[in-house]
Amino acid sequence: MLNEKVVKLLVEQVKKEFDSAYLYLDFANYYDEHGLDGFANWFEVQAQEERDHAMMIRRYLLDNGEKVRLLALDSQEGQYESPMIPLQSALEHERFVTASIHEIYHAASEVRDYRTMEFLDWFVAEQAEEEKSADELVRKMELFGSDGKGLYALNQELLSRVHVPAADGPEM
Ligand code: FEO
Repeated sequence: MLNEKVVKLLVEQVKKEFDSAYLYLDFANYYDEHGLDGFANWFEVQAQEERDHAMMIRRYLLDNGEKVRLLALDSQEGQYESPMIPLQSALEHERFVTASIHEIYHAASEVRDYRTMEFLDWFVAEQAEEEKSADELVRKMELFGSDGKGLYALNQELLSRVHVPAADGPEM
C-alpha cells in the first residue's frame, strides 16, 4: 500500500498526462488544418508519448495494489493566432507538468516512500528533456518561422519524428 496522498497525486497525474496528450492532439489538429503536416506530426508523436507516461503511472499504481480512478479529461479547443502560439503553450505546459511531478516527488519524500521516489526519477529526467525540446522548438521558430522557406524547412524536419517507446522507461 502506498501513502494516500501520494496515490491521490499519482491518480491526478494520470489525468494530467492524458490531458497533455489531448492538448497536443489539439495542437496537431490546428497545424494539420493549416497545412503544416510536420508540426502536426511532431505533436501527434508527443501525444503518444504523453499517453505512454499516463500508462506507466497507471501500471505503477496497479502493481502496487492501488485502485486507479480515471478522472474526466479537460476539453481542449484552443484558438491559436499563429503557428508560434502552440509552441509557446507547449513549453509553458511542460513546465507545469514538471512542477506537478516535483510535487509528487516531494510528497513521496515526506513519507519516506523511496519506491515512488525511485519510480519518479525517470519522470524527473524526462521532464528536463521535454522542456529542452519544447524550448528548442520555440527558438527554431523564432529564428526561421517568419520566412516562408525557413518555415518549410522546419516543417520538413519535424515530419521525420517517429514514436519510439522509451526503452529505459518504467513498464506500461
Ligand atoms: Fe508527460 Fe510532457 O509530460
